[in-house]
Amino acid sequence: MNRKVSVAPMMDCTDRHERFFLRLISKNTLLYSEMVVSEAIHRGDKKKLLQFNINEKPIALQIGGSSPALLAEATKAGEDFGYDEINLNLGCPSKKVEKNKFGACLMKEPNLVADCLSKMQSVTKLPVTIKTRIGYDDTEDYENFHHFISTLKSTGVKTFIIHARKAILGKFTPKQNLNIPPLKYNFVYRLKKDFPNEEIIINGGITTTDQMKDHLEKVDGVMIGRAAYHTPYLLADIERDIFNNENVPSRQDVIEQLLPYVREEIKKGTRLNQIMRHTLGLFHGQTGSSFWKRYLSENMCVRDADVKKIDHIMDKIKYNNFDTSVSQSA
Ligand SMILES: Cc1cc2nc3c(=O)[nH]c(=O)nc-3n(C[C@H](O)[C@H](O)[C@H](O)COP(=O)(O)O)c2cc1C
Repeated sequence: MNRKVSVAPMMDCTDRHERFFLRLISKNTLLYSEMVVSEAIHRGDKKKLLQFNINEKPIALQIGGSSPALLAEATKAGEDFGYDEINLNLGCPSKKVEKNKFGACLMKEPNLVADCLSKMQSVTKLPVTIKTRIGYDDTEDYENFHHFISTLKSTGVKTFIIHARKAILGKFTPKQNLNIPPLKYNFVYRLKKDFPNEEIIINGGITTTDQMKDHLEKVDGVMIGRAAYHTPYLLADIERDIFNNENVPSRQDVIEQLLPYVREEIKKGTRLNQIMRHTLGLFHGQTGSSFWKRYLSENMCVRDADVKKIDHIMDKIKYNNFDTSVSQSA
């Protein structure tokens, strides 16, 4: 069985605080950044957009764009900041994204994407990877998908992350595009058969380690999105069941280890809720889960949350006697 598991890029979710938090639970998963637009890296505050804590590694930077020159510049910046991989977003279907010509609409332009990938690879030694869908609108036959991947492969890209559903461009909201088009895992399995030497990672709707194990028999890796965000302790199951790592911290340990980071970050101007909002699902399925959510919502996930509250957080956890066992969290 293959053993590669990653946490998907998710806007407004997989920021540096979320990644630091997830890394406390899992040492072995690869973490992706939110998508950062190449134009923003060109014009904006690179440090603010790209800097991360060394403990988050291994970490991949996802970028969006369709200008070979800007994407190359963003790739180089990602390498300089210490990322381990640069990933090009070819799967995001939002209208805003389409207007600016990046994301899933680029599936219509394989040659332009190939130019982008060639330019990106020419400026870095890091692996340049792509994340895409299996099709778009009415273009949903396997042959077209195969042709698209083949064109990208010709540039030297070796890793292909496939969200196993098509995108409906223009008509669906991003949320509908994550749920309505049916998942077609067979497309991804077939791709692996046709490209046995490339790394094929499957994504979409995977929520348990049993499902992961099943996919890992057929493809090289799995990528988990919403399940990792909403039930982060799933990563403990992944450590134990996929990586045979029995040395996983309890949920309480995770919070205890997060606290020094929270204190440091607050000194630098981070607001409490920017970090703690990511921990809402930590006790999912456990006794006291609703208490935890309420406690965070009332005390820490409000804009002007008082940092002194953090001093009492471990007392709250102990007092409420949360279940400490490591269990299937999904
Ligand atoms: C809130 C949210 C934000 C997302 N942002 C991105 C993004 O920035 N880049 C990207 O490639 N995919 C993005 N996605 C899609 C996920 O990476 C993933 O492909 C999708 O959620 C399917 O996986 P899942 O069923 O395991 O959640 C986002 C998904 C969600 C729910």
